[in-house]
Amino acid sequence: MERIFIGVAWPYANGSLHLGTLAGCLLPGDIFGRYHRMKGNKVLMVSGSDEHGTPITITAEKEGVTPKEIVDRYHEEHKRNLEEFGIKFENFTRTSNYFHKEVVKKFFLKLYDNGYIYPKKIQAFYCEHCQRFLPDRYVEGVCKYCHGKARGDQCEECGRTLDINDILEPKCKICGSAPVLKETEHLFFKLSAFEEKLLEWLKDKDYWRDNVLNFTLNFIKSGLKDRAITRDLQWGVEVPLPGYENKRIYVWFDAVIGYLSASMEWAEKIGKADEWKKWWMEDAKHYYFLAKDNIPFHTIIWPAMLMGHGGLNLPYDVPANEYLTMSGEQFSKSRGVGIWLPDIVKKFDPDTIRYYLSINMPEKRDTDWNWADYQAKINNELVAVYGNFIHRVLTFIHKNFGEIPPYVKGDEKDEEVIKEVMENFEEVGKSIEKCHFKEGIKRVMRIAQIGNQYMNASEPWRLIKEDVDRCKSVMHTCARIVKILAIASAPYMPRAADKIWKMLGYKNSIHNCKWDEEIEIDENKIEKPSPLFSKIEMENIMEDPFSKLDLRVARIIDVKDHPNADKLYVIDVDVGEIGKRKLVAGIKPWYKKDELLGKKIVVIINLKKAKIRGIESEGMLLAVDENGKAVLLIASAKEGSRVYVEGIQPNPEKEISYEEFRKIKMLSKGNAIEYKGKLLRDDSDIIKIDRPVKDGYSVR
Ligand code: MF3
Ligand code: ZN
Repeated sequence: MERIFIGVAWPYANGSLHLGTLAGCLLPGDIFGRYHRMKGNKVLMVSGSDEHGTPITITAEKEGVTPKEIVDRYHEEHKRNLEEFGIKFENFTRTSNYFHKEVVKKFFLKLYDNGYIYPKKIQAFYCEHCQRFLPDRYVEGVCKYCHGKARGDQCEECGRTLDINDILEPKCKICGSAPVLKETEHLFFKLSAFEEKLLEWLKDKDYWRDNVLNFTLNFIKSGLKDRAITRDLQWGVEVPLPGYENKRIYVWFDAVIGYLSASMEWAEKIGKADEWKKWWMEDAKHYYFLAKDNIPFHTIIWPAMLMGHGGLNLPYDVPANEYLTMSGEQFSKSRGVGIWLPDIVKKFDPDTIRYYLSINMPEKRDTDWNWADYQAKINNELVAVYGNFIHRVLTFIHKNFGEIPPYVKGDEKDEEVIKEVMENFEEVGKSIEKCHFKEGIKRVMRIAQIGNQYMNASEPWRLIKEDVDRCKSVMHTCARIVKILAIASAPYMPRAADKIWKMLGYKNSIHNCKWDEEIEIDENKIEKPSPLFSKIEMENIMEDPFSKLDLRVARIIDVKDHPNADKLYVIDVDVGEIGKRKLVAGIKPWYKKDELLGKKIVVIINLKKAKIRGIESEGMLLAVDENGKAVLLIASAKEGSRVYVEGIQPNPEKEISYEEFRKIKMLSKGNAIEYKGKLLRDDSDIIKIDRPVKDGYSVR
């Protein structure tokens, strides 16, 4: 028996989970955890919602609600999705709870007492317009190293962690103006003190994935700088030292300690408060599952924090994944690119998603999510090979014997096939142990193929008439293969595997049985089997979320000041056959009333109605943000006509939420608007951005 700790990167609670997170962190962690539990090892797998920091406060500000509302909403949603996708944790908790905060403070004080935290005055970005400091994601600019997009504390492009000197052309995320530098005092973690120790620790990590080890070594060799671990923010864990009442602990510093606090909380919950120590202070291997942008936090900063604290186990392996892309673009919550778990779960069997993500896992390089390929792999592999083998074996047995027949008349062929199956079964296990999940699922499928071939070659449908004893033995052997297949696939497709288990007549859960002690088959009675998976039809393939929008051309017929708000107008628009609509829009700082009258704009008319400062808005006009200014989109066709992008058939839902709308990212391109590379248009022309004069002509 071994002890295995599994830490899965904590998703930010500022938006729905997407397939990228499932493929990159949650699913590999879950496959690994399920396998080790079946192996009889003691697994402690934890994670939770990452609820602090600027990703949360920025989302809250955008939506005009409190950070707490945001994290409560998404924490609940995340928990539900994990359940639906069969991701099993010993503890999935959250960083805003009291228990976690107390552990963070204690950890912090321990580092402080050990001399690894000290105060320093620094220059930080300050926005004079917004009158606030701009920590982390409140600043955007250009990365000094790769010239990619720098998003506060990290470059989106090269993944480097950044400090203020690394950000060129900084801009305030809220108002777009250029910040100034202003002095502020922060507490620093003495990361520089750990260079030697980290290099020493990494010496025997030759079993790590190349990209992870190389990234880590390069990072250290380019010089470790001390890092500010407090921020000028109100949302986060309080700093447990006097004089810092107006600051909070940096989100990453608090989140990684979650691995420890979640373990302690689990121990409390099961009523054995010291149980976590067996994983953290005694012999145990620690694995962390995450995507590549999280590497430095898990292979450098967290290990250094653990070293500075002392007495706690360091990571054993950090098998970070590359990215899952969609048509070549990275899935990303903050940029709204992706497929969201709450959407997908409504249409597809989660085990089919798990299958496709396993066989297409971004282990060594980025892989692409492709709907046609998903459909092909499910229909041609999962249904036609795996599902088919299981179904034909069970139906044959049910119809002819009603129970799994005994092995009465053997043949060399049977031993051979079992031997081949067992070789592959062992490879499934070895692959999972090495975190080669793709290889593992391929071996699972190989077992199904072998089973199919054996059954075809043995022709039980002929034997049932000519040699019943031999037929029984063939079907006994087939049932054994089905059983092995069920066990082998249990870490990958937990529900399907358990369903097979029950169809084989077992009463317990497959997840409670032992990985390598179950190779004989019992002569159970069996019920009439039902198919495991059904074919995926083209119509079921996910529509582009853009098709949910009801976008129309609308003419502005009246503009009034909002009685209760300085920056808002109340605008009446004529939407042709749809009728008239009232909109509340925040464009007053940039448009005069008479400039607006008569303009033909683009309006989304199926957005959930919302009261804005006491007046109900029955739609929303589309505008782009240009250096902090709202600029309208201008249409040409007659009022009421549809606005669309080529290739996406509009299929509007009755009502869509602001959240759903926010995920549909349109970008400006020159004078036009682009969605996934195609231009937004109406029946007579493309939609244009309302720029007074551009390149010598007017677009009004
Ligand atoms: N919330 C971070 C992200 O999504 C990951 C945090 S992992 C932890 O990128 F180590 F901090 F927990
Ligand atoms: Zn600002």
